[in-house]
Amino acid sequence: MTLPVPANCPRSDLDIFCMDAILHPDNYDVVLREMAPVVYLPQYDMYVTGRHEHSQKILANDDQFSAFKRPFFEPKSVRADILITDDRPKHPRVRRPIQRAMSPAVMRQMKEHFTAEAEKLVEQLMANGTVELEGRRDLVGKYVLKVFPDVIGLPESGRENLLDYGDVVFNTFGPENELYHQTFSKAGPVLDWVVNACKRENLAPGLMGVQMYEAADTGEITHDEAMLLVLSILSAGSDSTIVSLMNTLAAFARFPEQWQHLRANPNLMRTVLEESLRYESITRFLGRGVITDFDIEGVIVPAEAKIGALMYAAGRDPRRWDHADQFDISRQIVGHIGFGTGIHACVGQSVARLEAECLFGALCKRVAKIEVIGAAKPIINNIAHGTFGLPLRLHAV
Ligand code: HEM
Repeated sequence: MTLPVPANCPRSDLDIFCMDAILHPDNYDVVLREMAPVVYLPQYDMYVTGRHEHSQKILANDDQFSAFKRPFFEPKSVRADILITDDRPKHPRVRRPIQRAMSPAVMRQMKEHFTAEAEKLVEQLMANGTVELEGRRDLVGKYVLKVFPDVIGLPESGRENLLDYGDVVFNTFGPENELYHQTFSKAGPVLDWVVNACKRENLAPGLMGVQMYEAADTGEITHDEAMLLVLSILSAGSDSTIVSLMNTLAAFARFPEQWQHLRANPNLMRTVLEESLRYESITRFLGRGVITDFDIEGVIVPAEAKIGALMYAAGRDPRRWDHADQFDISRQIVGHIGFGTGIHACVGQSVARLEAECLFGALCKRVAKIEVIGAAKPIINNIAHGTFGLPLRLHAV
């Protein structure tokens, strides 16, 4: 049933999920952000905002916005419908085991492993001085698909399936368009591998994957939920991190003075990923269902409506960020929403930060300049945004 749309709410026929929008969000998401604080898209019977202030409120306020009633809900989805699609009271119960698995003590161990692997990889790549490579295949993908599955305890062989799995799952958060069907037509073997890899008997003992099943042994969650949690960690943690780190590499190539600035000020390492997520959010769109009428600058978005935050546009919102289109690792970056916010804020953000810190830390020591030497390949996905392929020349120090 279509709800009445407030007379004072602007409408737009821009299709934020068409191929052109995926490739050029400035011509869609940013145009909608500048059109009005909130815009109704008849094609999807959904409201969107590209403003940082309203996007932040939508994600932070789980009393008024439901993750379960998000747009494009598909009950037969291949996605592991747990956690990210749960409201209270179920949400905190199923989130607790993952949070526990990322305790400060565990993070310290991870840091040792992540640092050693980053140093090893970068040392190998730079062994003969300046090198030409493909950013994802040879550097970022190789690194993330080593260290991240290691902490889950996944089998070594077949880990590249995680990239396609992430792609499929990301697409399920958008409409069932041609792109969605294309992704799904190739997904069978990938899904088989992931489901098999997540079974308790195939996970290495003592690590994060098995810890989900151990939480089920105590009755905190069910055994089915344990498997769904492992699947959701895998789908949420692989290409989100890979593309975010690729976006960061691309940003350093576009703003070479920022790379020099980081090399001279390694204490800024912790803010690199934060600024990169503001500048180029991998998640372009995050949807919610409206629980009670919500006022966005005088437009009352009605209860039961669907609404989406345009995250790329919010990261570039000039109302919130000075020189928003500049990648600037020195800025006061507190309050960006690239990891979401509120109860669904990314549960793996400390892992992603650590991956970024270790990889860019290792690169900083050995790479004087990051140069793009060919056409960048964007990620083609309904809701993910950024760089998937990037031919690079890394100039040795
Ligand atoms: C730079 C890399 C990453 C980015 C940009 C990112 C981004 C996000 C965002 C925006 C959300 C909120 C979604 C919403 O509100 O609907 C989220 C949630 C989540 N992320 Fe991440 N993520 C990253 C890495 C990771 C990693 C490494 C893991 C696993 C270790 C992970 C696991 C999750 C899970 C399980 C959720 C759902 C949390 C909940 O609903 O309570 N993410 N992430």
